[in-house]
Amino acid sequence: MSLLEVRDLHVEFHTRDGVAKAVNGVDCGVEAGETLAVLGESGSGKSVTAQAIMGILDTPPGRITGGEIVFQGRDLLTLPGQERRRIRGAKMAMIFQDALSALNPVLSVGYQLAEMFRVHQGASRKEARAKAVELMERVRIPAARQRVGDYPHQFSGGMRQRIMIAMALALEPDLIIADEPTTALDVTVQAQVMELLADLQREFNMGLILITHDLGVVADVADRIAVMYAGRIVETAPVKELYKAPAHPYTKGLLDSIPRLDQKGGQLDVIRGMPPNLQQIPPGCAYNPRCPMARAVCRRDEPPLYEVSALRASACHFWEEMCDAR
Ligand SMILES: Nc1ncnc2c1ncn2[C@@H]1O[C@H](COP(=O)(O)OP(=O)(O)OP(=O)(O)O)[C@@H](O)[C@H]1O
Ligand code: SF4
Ligand SMILES: [Mg+2]
Repeated sequence: MSLLEVRDLHVEFHTRDGVAKAVNGVDCGVEAGETLAVLGESGSGKSVTAQAIMGILDTPPGRITGGEIVFQGRDLLTLPGQERRRIRGAKMAMIFQDALSALNPVLSVGYQLAEMFRVHQGASRKEARAKAVELMERVRIPAARQRVGDYPHQFSGGMRQRIMIAMALALEPDLIIADEPTTALDVTVQAQVMELLADLQREFNMGLILITHDLGVVADVADRIAVMYAGRIVETAPVKELYKAPAHPYTKGLLDSIPRLDQKGGQLDVIRGMPPNLQQIPPGCAYNPRCPMARAVCRRDEPPLYEVSALRASACHFWEEMCDAR
């Protein structure tokens, strides 16, 4: 049994301007101990997919209009609200980009961490505080015992992000979803926080869904990648295989648009055009207006997610050509 399996998930936003189809049939999953990186341009539906899984979608205007989210064998979308909240508190947790807005500014970090143990495990005040210090040490906050009474704004950005990781880990969840967890940090701090997250994930054998723009981070920590475009997963593959030979033109575009240390000089290829308007997704393959390989069939038929090999899939009619071109 998979830890998490998302099947044919659809999410729409109903706004005054019309209906935005943010998620259009996402299939993906993650196993215990596995890291799945989710990549894609801004607006491709990464965060909305994460919010739907966590059950924290902005509803309305957002609405799940189809699909299943099967977590540890149960479809979360059919569970009563109370059961859903219990799972969200104890078995899955989310780490956001901006710790400052996720933490309560008027409560000490020690109090906020301790509260997790008091509310969910009925720990005494003293026990909870001891556990809070222990957690702060686990996420490598220097002088944790002295700093347990400090407020969020008294910590640096990197330290705050560690505190948010501590909050997410407190109840030892089976799944963590991290949405751009290091984007707001300096480059050097980014690497440290990412390393910490990867270490803890291994130690706790959790499933980790890591949403990121950063292909460098992905190469270091992920097992598998899912590439999103216009609310769909257009390619999924083990990291090394995907980097070596993408089976979808959009993935190739993403890879070609990052500077590579091993290829100095030369010009970067950038994907031309803009991501589609989600209220008017082009018919056929959503990527066709930007795709250098597009032809008539692409403007007519939406490609299914073709199985490229046991662990790989590509939503391109011409995935075989992509693979042959290596
Ligand atoms: N609260 C909302 N109200 C209306 N539409 C929304 C809302 N949240 C998301 N959307 C729609 O869903 C689309 C996908 O948003 P999402 O946040 O998932 O993108 P993303 O892939 O996470 O992008 P980024 O990399 O910028 O974080 C948005 O472009 C927008 O059209
Ligand atoms: S289906 Fe056609 S338009 Fe879409 S990615 Fe493949 S070649 Fe490009
Ligand atoms: Mg996002």
